[in-house]
Amino acid sequence: MQDLMTIKDASIWASKHISKDVTPSNISYLIQYGRISKNGDNGSAFVNRYDLEKYYNSHLGTKEDRWKKQLGDDLNWNLSFSEYKESETTKHVHRLHPYKGKFIPQLVEYFLDQHTDKFKNEVFFNPIDIILDPFCGSGTTLVQANELGLNSVGIDISAFNAFISNVKVGKYDIDDIRNTANEITQNLKIFLQEKNNVKFEDELLSELRIFNNKFFPSPEFKHKVRQKAIDEKFYGKQKSEKFSEIYYKLIGKYNISLKQRRNDLFLDKWFLKVVRDEINFVFQQIKPIKNLETKKLLALVLSRTIRSCRATTHSDLGTLKEPVTSTYYCKKHGKICKPLFSILSWWQSYVQDTIKRINQFDKLRTKTFQNCLTGDSRTINVFDELEKKYPAFGKLAKENKIAGIFSSPPYVGLIDYHEQHAYSYDLFGFERKDELEIGPLCKGQGLEARKSYIKGISDVLNNCKQFLKQGYDVFLVANDKYGLYSQIAELSNMKIVNEYKRPVLNRVEKDRSAYAEIIFHMKEK
Ligand SMILES: C[S@@+](CC[C@H](N)C(=O)[O-])C[C@H]1O[C@@H](n2cnc3c(N)ncnc32)[C@H](O)[C@@H]1O
Repeated sequence: MQDLMTIKDASIWASKHISKDVTPSNISYLIQYGRISKNGDNGSAFVNRYDLEKYYNSHLGTKEDRWKKQLGDDLNWNLSFSEYKESETTKHVHRLHPYKGKFIPQLVEYFLDQHTDKFKNEVFFNPIDIILDPFCGSGTTLVQANELGLNSVGIDISAFNAFISNVKVGKYDIDDIRNTANEITQNLKIFLQEKNNVKFEDELLSELRIFNNKFFPSPEFKHKVRQKAIDEKFYGKQKSEKFSEIYYKLIGKYNISLKQRRNDLFLDKWFLKVVRDEINFVFQQIKPIKNLETKKLLALVLSRTIRSCRATTHSDLGTLKEPVTSTYYCKKHGKICKPLFSILSWWQSYVQDTIKRINQFDKLRTKTFQNCLTGDSRTINVFDELEKKYPAFGKLAKENKIAGIFSSPPYVGLIDYHEQHAYSYDLFGFERKDELEIGPLCKGQGLEARKSYIKGISDVLNNCKQFLKQGYDVFLVANDKYGLYSQIAELSNMKIVNEYKRPVLNRVEKDRSAYAEIIFHMKEK
């Protein structure tokens, strides 16, 4: 059966069908990734309504019902925030730098703001209160507290995470940032004129375009893979070997150095030699910047840039496997892809993106205190450290005390938080304190790891309690698959007064199965 619609009409039809905003680019994505087939040629693409209906019925259906069947009827669907677009869950400074393990800003807002609804029938915090996040990570709590007119203090054991948090809530001179960044870009371009890699990459790209058009036409190729008309693994390997002949010829022609001489640092292992030279060049340009705020922000832009330029395949960007120094068949894009040979284009695009995001946040920010301290939340004296580094905020905190905690502790055995930003530790020389991380991936999820996790989190709560007001509210977002939080509350002399079970829809992991986390609300016993 056929009922052809333009992409725009398809998006209108789909929006009505699933009662959710579906944009024309969502439809193009479905075509691009072979989920539905494209009809028509010469720039005019049509979609068959029956294909679209079949796709949505099988993929979306009643997700809420299916998830409740698996996870229980007490799942609070309101906390899925499924009505928010990705651009809203990664709004303004929240996307200044990648960070694995952050919570979404709407979740923080839900508990910190003044609204009530049928699930939240109490307001927990008031403007000018101070909120503590003892596992601050990339600073989501700090940013949202600022938007809502609350003060907040974060703590993180990872100096680089504390750096990301503080940069996000920083106040900037946008003109100075733009001018300084432009100067660095110009200098980088001059540096590149003496090198061969830009010319090499241009020729490589044009060869790749010809090759991919011929052997991986889009979207037909992906469609055939989905229909199992092509053995993707075999075909991809065969074509990738064929292209590598062209690739190595070009490497020879332009005399490109791929490997670095040393292999001990992350920066030596995971970056092509040509890329590493550019990273060093830009870092040397950032070092003498006089305006400290501009310097920190551009250092974060460089960090984001180099993360995107690691020598890995597109599908392994999240979990690195092996350094990649040649072209390869990319499962994600369904064609032959290449590693990066220059940081220039990422640097330029992240400079633009950062300025845009800083500007957006600047319009929303309130005049409140937000700072992240680097330290171990089990032992840190929050008031003393705050007073040393930020005297006015320290004084206010000592006088008023802290109203409560909103935080997501590390989950047991899931992520190594220092290691995920190893490139930045190498480049900037921040001190690493891996051994003080609570529940790191490297210690696993066994009995010993769980015991030490319970002790770690309850030590944090016991230490932080002394800085909290009487009648405090503590909210901890956790994946408690081992049921450890009742013991944690007990050891901290707190009681769990409520549990909000939220479905996690936009997971970054490859595993997209039904999954819930719990927001534990605890109070003094
Ligand atoms: C789940 S993440 C927090 C993410 C944060 N909510 C966000 O949105 O970015 C947990 C954080 O706890 C930090 N952490 C682990 N052990 C710690 C300790 N002993 N003291 C302070 N922070 C610690 C980790 O470095 C990590 O950044």
